[in-house]
Amino acid sequence: MSGQRRVRVLYEEAQVQARTEELAREIAQWKPKNLLVVAVLKGSFMFAADLMRAMHRAGLEPQVEFIHLSSYLDGTVSSGQVKILRDIESTVQDRDVLLVDDILESGRTLAFAKDLLAARGARSVKVCCILEKPGKRAVQIDADFVGFHTPDLFVVGYGMDVAHSYRELPYIGVVETDG
Ligand code: IMP
Ligand code: MG
Repeated sequence: MSGQRRVRVLYEEAQVQARTEELAREIAQWKPKNLLVVAVLKGSFMFAADLMRAMHRAGLEPQVEFIHLSSYLDGTVSSGQVKILRDIESTVQDRDVLLVDDILESGRTLAFAKDLLAARGARSVKVCCILEKPGKRAVQIDADFVGFHTPDLFVVGYGMDVAHSYRELPYIGVVETDG
């Protein structure tokens, strides 16, 4: 690889943390019953962990499950197909479900997951993501709880990757290549 790669920060760690606390309070106002958080792997792992702790502080008692879905190959181009790589174990029958993901872009991943959990008998399915890219939807779906509406840039950090790298960053940014 030529040149040095740097990450230009879009959302600082403290900003992400503060917004996550607000989101948890918004979710608490929904007053969900028998709440099951379904975190979509891999991208949501860091946000889901922070959101769970913030939900505790907001007075909620969520359970958590993980579903591993894949709609991207190793690069930055969507394959358009969603596959279940690992499914949840708990029943969603008659439960309020909160789907948690990193970013809502084409909407294919979350639309697929939402339809799946609704078909399994969830009482309701709401969607929470830390980022949303306006104007990029290929299918009709909106997030009920959104951290930040973000420009149409390929972002990394806070669980999000490009080719499996940068997930560890505590902030969200854009990769820039010098030289
Ligand atoms: P969608 O199905 O097109 O909405 O894309 C959802 C998934 O694509 C997200 O959960 C991410 O894993 C990935 N994705 C979309 N945009 C970005 C980005 O800018 N950076 C990193 N991953 C992204
Ligand atoms: Mg993802």
